[in-house]
Amino acid sequence: MKVAQHTTYNKNNITLNIIEIAKPSMTDKEVLVKVSAAGVNPLDNMISRGEVKMIVPYKLPQTAGNEFVGIVERIGKQVDKFQVGDRVFGRLPLDHIGAFAEYLAVDSQALAKVPDYLSDEEAAAVPLTALTIMQALELMGAQAGKTIFISGGTGGVGGMAIPIAKAKCLKVITNGAGDSAERVLKLGADRFIDYKTEDYTKTVSQVDYVLDTLGGAETEKQMSIMKKVVTLCPFVPCQTVLLPNA
Ligand SMILES: NC(=O)c1ccc[n+]([C@@H]2O[C@H](COP(=O)([O-])OP(=O)(O)OC[C@H]3O[C@@H](n4cnc5c(N)ncnc54)[C@H](OP(=O)(O)O)[C@@H]3O)[C@@H](O)[C@H]2O)c1
Repeated sequence: MKVAQHTTYNKNNITLNIIEIAKPSMTDKEVLVKVSAAGVNPLDNMISRGEVKMIVPYKLPQTAGNEFVGIVERIGKQVDKFQVGDRVFGRLPLDHIGAFAEYLAVDSQALAKVPDYLSDEEAAAVPLTALTIMQALELMGAQAGKTIFISGGTGGVGGMAIPIAKAKCLKVITNGAGDSAERVLKLGADRFIDYKTEDYTKTVSQVDYVLDTLGGAETEKQMSIMKKVVTLCPFVPCQTVLLPNA
């Protein structure tokens, strides 16, 4: 089967080589997927440039790609959630990437069935961003009825965060590039702020959670609009702590 591999890390030039390798073998917990589309995420470029090799030191050559869609072609003996012919998508485990391939042997726990309303290309762009957001909301302990500020709601991660936060019954305030306001409001945001024309720190306060997709100088600004909670800490006698789930 054909795969696209990195053979070197290169900061300036992202190159993948298409080569032939053997079809993957499967364990009893795995599913063999014939890939129909794979997402190209900023993470793929970071991996190619060697920017995350301290965290995940892939041994080169490494087949690239993290997220995919495909059709189940075979199932392992212990798999009962899927059937041959199911259309599935997923994000490969960090230590087992390689979605830019014709076939993948994937742990069935890393797969879900694709809803009919998504095309293969649309579905291939979902797993990494959606799982990032699900994980972030879980870490926050986000509770229905509270308010979340999502910075950069016009971007890949922020845009995915809006419908997921709404599905969890949160009130969503977001900001981003003004020309995308209509698109972002259609995703379900309750309020959109154009970051180039309005300073939200003057008009937004007392939010329960912040999902910061921007970092840098923006982080401190986002902290300033959160509810403040006074806690007693065993190491510092008394301090004000900004908590994501305050
Ligand atoms: N994509 C993923 O799956 C993923 C997963 C985990 C983590 N991340 C991380 O999440 C971060 C965002 O990634 P992304 O893929 O969503 O980036 P992106 O698609 O480039 O989105 C960034 C968005 O933020 C807007 N923006 C820029 N400056 C802003 C400001 N000061 N205030 C408000 N909005 C501003 C941009 O608008 P303009 O058009 O005006 O620039 C753009 O719409 C990155 O650090 C990335 O590493 C991404």
